[in-house]
Amino acid sequence: MLKRFSISLEEKLLDIFDEHIKARSYSNRSEAIRDLIRKTFIKEEWQSDKQVMGVISLVYDHHQHKLQEKVTLVQHDYHHHIVSTTHVHMDHDNCLEVIVVRGKAKEVQELADQLIALRGVRDGNLAMSSTGKSLH
Ligand code: NI
Repeated sequence: MLKRFSISLEEKLLDIFDEHIKARSYSNRSEAIRDLIRKTFIKEEWQSDKQVMGVISLVYDHHQHKLQEKVTLVQHDYHHHIVSTTHVHMDHDNCLEVIVVRGKAKEVQELADQLIALRGVRDGNLAMSSTGKSLH
């Protein structure tokens, strides 16, 4: 069941919001607001101790001494959390590793932190995802 409520916004913020709506082809403001609200709560769910899925991406130079070995070692320490790993040889020096993970938010974050902190990792990122089941 849908309920209506009204929102007061500064004109400038509303302009920015309308740009956001246009850029993403939302059919109306309500649809865009609903998405923003859901996104916020999904983020909270992720930050709590619930089960989540995520994608860790790493860019590193495989010439860095023992780095490849360390990346593998850490993943074996967390093998229950890892769904799949894809290794892409980006160019002569650089590798991209994309790791799909699942588990408690806190543990998935720990795993990502350990990998990203390894010496020689040039870029690292953890993207969060959740079904947001409780929000529909
Ligand atoms: Ni490679």
